[in-house]
Amino acid sequence: MPKPQPRIAGLPGSLRKQSCTRAAVRIALEGAAHAGAATELVDLSDFDLPLCAGMDSDFDYPESVMKLREVLKRADGIILGTPEYHGSYSGVLKNALDLMAFPQFELKMVGLVSVSGGAMGGLEAMTGLRAVCRSLHAWVVPNQAAVPSAHKHFGPTKNQTARSGTVNAPWAIRSRVSRCCTQKRWVNCCASNCAAPRTPAQAE
Ligand SMILES: Cc1cc2nc3c(=O)[nH]c(=O)nc-3n(C[C@H](O)[C@H](O)[C@H](O)COP(=O)(O)O)c2cc1C
Repeated sequence: MPKPQPRIAGLPGSLRKQSCTRAAVRIALEGAAHAGAATELVDLSDFDLPLCAGMDSDFDYPESVMKLREVLKRADGIILGTPEYHGSYSGVLKNALDLMAFPQFELKMVGLVSVSGGAMGGLEAMTGLRAVCRSLHAWVVPNQAAVPSAHKHFGPTKNQTARSGTVNAPWAIRSRVSRCCTQKRWVNCCASNCAAPRTPAQAE
């Protein structure tokens, strides 16, 4: 029987038009596509998400939240991208994740990529995201990709970081992001996941 094609969604946690995070996630998705996955960039600027207010009922949330939940629920694996903001991940991403729950993440493989203006590449941000993903019962892959001084690699004068289309980035960056985030092994795990029975919450 042919192996099912895993669906991998990439979720960059920046709303900025020329976002380096989006560019990095796009590269990671290109790596996943190369390894055989069907990929989708989920751009949070397409969703008019409210701030998470810990509503008692799902019906209290607007359509945009349900739409994002549906998109991520469909995915077999998820790549989270974040800019480093004050030594951590972005509030935009945290808010989006707070609006999600187990059906979107439980037992799924998650890859991490971060970018920063400074020299650290957002390592602390990814450490924080690992804790969030643990709470959501996701499997975060051990490797991760950090891109320091991101504006030098993805800056508008050198490269295109438009919301759509292929990203031009130096080979070293492209290879680091792809290697860490979207190895064939990772994609294969997502494929086994999509063949496996879903949790009751995901099967609904
Ligand atoms: C609110 C804010 C906080 C930031 N904090 C840090 C930081 O702690 N360390 C760092 O290296 N860069 C920091 N930066 C720079 C961003 O990480 C950098 O500009 C990154 O490219 C932004 O991601 P984006 O291009 O996807 O929007 C910060 C930027 C903003 C807007």
